[in-house]
Amino acid sequence: MSQYDEQLKKAFDPEEFRREGRKVVDRLADFLAASTAEKSPRVYPYEKPDDMLESWAGRFGAEPRTGFPDLLPEILARSNNLLHPRFIGHQCTTALPLGALGGFVGQFLNNGSAVYEMGPVNVAMERQIIRWMAGLAGFGPGADGVFTSGGSSGNLTALLAARQAAAEGNIWKGGVGSEPPLAVLVSAQSHYSVRRSVAIMGMGEEAVIPVAVDERFKMTEEGFRQACIEAERRRRRPFVLVANACSTATGTYDDLEKAAAWAKSRGLWLHVDGAHGAGALLSPKYRPLLRGLEKVDSFIWDAHKNMLMPALITAVIFREGVHSYEAFSQKASYLFEKDATEEWYNYAQRTMECTKTMMGMRLFISLAAYGTDFFAGYITAMYDLTREFARRLQATNDFETAVEPESNIICFRYLKKGETDLDGFQRRIRRLLLEQGHFYVVQTELNSRLWLRCTLINPRTTIADLEALMDEIRILTR
Ligand SMILES: Cc1ncc(COP(=O)(O)O)c(C=O)c1O
Repeated sequence: MSQYDEQLKKAFDPEEFRREGRKVVDRLADFLAASTAEKSPRVYPYEKPDDMLESWAGRFGAEPRTGFPDLLPEILARSNNLLHPRFIGHQCTTALPLGALGGFVGQFLNNGSAVYEMGPVNVAMERQIIRWMAGLAGFGPGADGVFTSGGSSGNLTALLAARQAAAEGNIWKGGVGSEPPLAVLVSAQSHYSVRRSVAIMGMGEEAVIPVAVDERFKMTEEGFRQACIEAERRRRRPFVLVANACSTATGTYDDLEKAAAWAKSRGLWLHVDGAHGAGALLSPKYRPLLRGLEKVDSFIWDAHKNMLMPALITAVIFREGVHSYEAFSQKASYLFEKDATEEWYNYAQRTMECTKTMMGMRLFISLAAYGTDFFAGYITAMYDLTREFARRLQATNDFETAVEPESNIICFRYLKKGETDLDGFQRRIRRLLLEQGHFYVVQTELNSRLWLRCTLINPRTTIADLEALMDEIRILTR
C-alpha cells in the first residue's frame, strides 16, 4: 500500500475517528471544567503577535507530524478562554457546548446551505427560526429573511435591499452612477460595519450622515432633523435611517417608536442594527426596550452575541419579505430554477454566500434541546447582572459609569486620586489587566474620553467575579 493509500484509510477510518473524537471531547470537557475551577487557567494568555507566529512556523510538512489530540492542549492553553466567567470583553459569546457540538456536526456533514439541494435540513431549520424571530418582532405573515455570516454581512444585506427598494432605476444593473447621489442617515453611535457597508456599496463615506445622540447615546429628533438638512446641503437623497438596538459601545437602545415616526415622515426605510440587542425580544422583562420594532423595515439579530451560539449566525429579517429578494437581484441561472420569490429555499439568491455553513442547525438544535425560555432567562439574567454591577460601581467613590446600562454592555472608569491623565490611566489599567491575564476587558472612547468596557455575556459570570475585577484594578494600580 502506498503511503497515500495508508493515510487515506486512516483519515476515513470510523474506528480511528471514534477514538480520536473521544479524546478531543474528553479534553474539551476537562477544559470546560477547568475554566471555572478555583485555580483556573489564564483567561487571556497574551503573547506578542510575532512570537505567536514564529512558534507555529515549520510545524507541518510533507510527512505527518502531530496528531490533533496532541496539538489540542497547546491550542487550548494559548487561545483566549471565552468559557471563563472572567472573559468579559467583546461581544463574542461563550459558546453553548451543545451549540459547538452542532457546529461540529455541521462541519462533519458540510452541507453548504445556500441552496436547498446542498443542505435541505439546514435550509428548512433556518426558515423555521426566521419565522419565529419575525413573530417575536411583531411582524406579520409577509415577513421573511435569511441567515448570513455575521452582523457586518447582515447590515450590508439589509442596506442593499433598502437601496434597491428606494432606487428609481436598477442600481444592481446600472451601477451607482445611474442614480442621483444617495445618503444614509445613521446613529452617530453605529457600528463601523454600517459605514463600511455604505463604502462597499460604492456610495462613498460621504453618503454617511451621522445623526447626533443625547447624553444617553440615543438618537435625538434634532439630530435627525439636522442630518436631513446636511443631506440637502450635500445634495444627496436620504433613503434609509439606521438605528441601534443596541449600540456597540454603550449597549444603548434607540427609541424605535420615535425612529419609525421620523423615518415615516421622510419616506425613509428604517433599518435596525439589532446584532447585539435583538435578543432582548426573548425576555419579558427587557422586551420593552425594542418597542416599535414591529414598524421597522428590516433588522438584524446575531445569535453569536446574545444567544450563546458559536460564531457566526446572523438573521436578516424584513417586515415585507419580498424585499429580501432585492438585496442581490442578480440571476445565477445555474443555481436557481424559478423566479426569485417562489424559491425561498435557495438562500444564495438573497445572501452574500454561495457556500454557507449549517448555521441555522446549530441554533435550532439548541432551541430544541433547551427551549426558548432558557434563552429568555439568560438575557434577563445578564441584563440584571449588568445593572447590579453598575450599582456596585456607583456605590464606590473610586469608580464611575459612563451611562446607566440598558443591556449587558457597561462602560466605566477607575478614578484614582492624584491621576491627572485619566484616559492614559484607563489605557494603562487595561494593559496591566491583559498582561496579568486573569480578566479580559476592552476599552472604548466616548465623547473624547476613554472608558473601560465590559460585555457580561457569559452566563457563568457572577457579581463576585465583577467585584474581584474592581479589587484587581485597585491592586494593580496601587
Ligand atoms: C451593533 C453591532 N452591529 C454589527 C456588528 C458586527 O457583527 P459581526 O462581528 O458579526 O460582523 C457588531 C459587532 O460587534 C455590533 O456590535
